[in-house]
This record gives sequence, C-alpha cells and structure tokens, in this order.
Amino acid sequence: MALARFLRGNSTISRAFAPLTQSLFSTSATPITATFFPGDGIGPEIADSVKQIFNAAEVPIEWEDHYVGTEVDPRTQSFLTSESLDSVRRNKVGLKGPMATPIGKGHRSLNLTLRKELGLFANVRPCISLPGYKTRYDNVNLVTIRENTEGEYSGLEHQVVRGVVESLKIITRQASMRVAEYAFHYAKANGRQRVSAIHKANIMRKTDGLFLKCCREVAEKYPEIEYEEVIIDNCCMMLVKNPALFDVLVMPNLYGDIISDLCAGLIGGLGLTPSCNIGEDGICLAEAVHGSAPDIAGKNLANPTAVLLSGVMMLRHLNLNSQADQIHSAILKTISDGKYRTGDLGGTSTTSDFTKAVCDNL
Ligand code: NAI
Repeated sequence: MALARFLRGNSTISRAFAPLTQSLFSTSATPITATFFPGDGIGPEIADSVKQIFNAAEVPIEWEDHYVGTEVDPRTQSFLTSESLDSVRRNKVGLKGPMATPIGKGHRSLNLTLRKELGLFANVRPCISLPGYKTRYDNVNLVTIRENTEGEYSGLEHQVVRGVVESLKIITRQASMRVAEYAFHYAKANGRQRVSAIHKANIMRKTDGLFLKCCREVAEKYPEIEYEEVIIDNCCMMLVKNPALFDVLVMPNLYGDIISDLCAGLIGGLGLTPSCNIGEDGICLAEAVHGSAPDIAGKNLANPTAVLLSGVMMLRHLNLNSQADQIHSAILKTISDGKYRTGDLGGTSTTSDFTKAVCDNL
C-alpha cells in the first residue's frame, strides 16, 4: 500500500523541466516576484544579508516572504503551509534558508515536504574553489547532481519481526531518466566535458543497475559529452586524492547527500556552498545547504556566503546575469581581501560587517 502510494506520488512529477540557463522571465524593468523562505535559526540573519546586498545591487526582485508555520497544515501534513507551496508554484522561483525539523512531532520533514510537493527532482551543487580562500585543494571545479525524490529517502521503513527492520530503496526508470537527462543537459548547457555516474551496482544490481542503465541510455544522446561510471567508494577516494578528476557527477539520492557534503568540505565547508533545486514545470528553488546552526543563531556570527551564492544561482536562472556577476565578484573580493571574514573562515567579523563589506565591494 505504502509503496503504491509512493509511486503514485512520484508519477505526478513527470513534466518536462526547464533548463537552468533558460530564463522563464523577461529582464525588463518590471520586478520579478520570488518566494523567500528565511527559515529557522540563522536563517533570518542571513536572509537580511541577501536582501541588503540585492537592494544595493538594484536587483529587480520583489520578495514574497514565507515563514514556517506553528501548526501542522492538513494539506501538507507538515509545518510548511499550503500558501507557502502555492507561492513557489506561482512564482516558479525562490530562495530558501535552513529549516530545522522538530523531532518526534509526527509530521513530515519540511525539506521532504518541499521536495515531494514541488517535485524538486534534482539538487544541483557546484563546488568551485574560492580564489583567495586557501584549502587543501586549489583546483576544485565540479558539480554534483543528486536525484532528490527516491532511493533510500522514500520513507518506507517497517519492522518485519522484533529485531528485524526493513527499509525500501526505490529506484524508478522515470526518476532516473529525468535526473540523468538533466545532468547531461546541464553539462552541455554549461560547457562541461564529462558526466560521471556514481553507483554501487556491483552490489545493488537491480536498483543501481537500473539507474546506470538510464544514464547509459541518455549518454548515447550526448556523444559530445564523455561518460564514465565510478563506484561510490572509489569515487570518495578519488575525490579526496584529486578532485580535479571530476567534472559533473550524477547519482541517486543517498550517495548525492553524502558526496555533495564531502565536496563542500573540499572548498571550505557548508558556509560557502550554494545549491539549487530544480522542480517540475521549471521551478528553481535555490538553497543554502547548511542547517539552522542553532549554536550561533541570533548572535550575528553566521556566514551568509552560501545563501548569497545560492541567490546568485537563482539570478542566473532568471538571466539576470549582470547583477549575478556583480554580486558574485563582490563576495569573492570580500573573502579574498581577507579583512572581513566570519568565524567559520577563521575571521572575527560579524554577519553585518561581512554584509557591509560586500555592499562596499559591489
Ligand atoms: P548545521 O549545518 O546547522 O550546523 C553544523 C555546524 O556548522 C555548526 O557548528 C554551525 O554553527 C556551522 N554552520 C552552519 N552554517 C553556518 C554558516 N552559514 N555560518 C557559520 N557556521 C555555520 O547542522 P546541524 O547542527 O546538524 O543541524 C541543525 C538543524 O538544521 C537541524 O534541525 C537540521 O534538521 C537542520 N538542517 C536543515 C537543513 C536544510 O534546511 N537544508 C540542512 C541540514 C540541517
């Protein structure tokens, strides 16, 4: 029953996606309305930073703010209200801060609700070394594309008998084709040379085997893009040894969750790493991948770079490329100057100091 319900839910997410680089909107003077989820914990502080910097750069966006509710909404079965979801469906574009999931309240996770309800089938996370911020590697320039809707995250777990539990990993041809097509499309549209499918099909022959079969099928349609298959454990070893070996990586949900954080670590951590969720009907919901950081919330200590760079991804999706370039350069200059850095990057600046420095560098 639960499996049938899960598959039914997924089959509604089959409509064609709009390319990341293709704007659905005009670049005229009319402001574009975008949904904003400031989120929890440090969310409101870093959301303020985005708004100040976007205002200073005169970005033609009007934000529609939506906060996480305090009552479970019967339509979404979570603290995320149906009005919030309708706002993203209407605007087709938005920016999301971190959302803490209260534990043990018997409702769906907020992030899972967003992915399911909006059909956010791919999470795109570029990991690119920031010039002027030294890590172990200077040459990271890769993009992970994670299948976002199924695999081990299907939520189908039960106890078979006392002491034995079972969790179902669901892989469908439909979701695998969709994310593979998106990965190759992304590679071509962004001048990338190679797509690596990450898997464990030597052990999970049926599930990861189907995922690979779909990737191979799509790869045939893109002879100009090199295609390779890498087993997940070997992939981890290669990434920490020499990340320059990779270009675009596409993978099922759980592997994507792990590998994308590993890649964030290669360039300096979660405070620097943006991402974008691509959904049905061309929805683009950009998001900082870190959590709500309760240990520093409300202290003006958070690094807003990840959410700012996610905002830059959103601007590129909207074809607002000059504003995207301007903000991107100001962020990079601020970090590379080294005078205003937040605690996670070894500095002593507050969120407000960093924000002001980026505005000054615009
Ligand atoms: P976390 O990412 O919130 O924090 C991990 C560590 O990184 C903490 O020391 C924190 O201070 C630091 N950190 C994170 N973002 C930072 C930033 N922008 N600037 C400076 N330091 C930063 O992960 P944690 O503690 O596991 O999760 C806290 C809450 O966030 C949980 O309720 C979790 O469910 C939620 N969460 C939400 C996510 C989302 O909405 N996408 C993703 C991950 C966690």
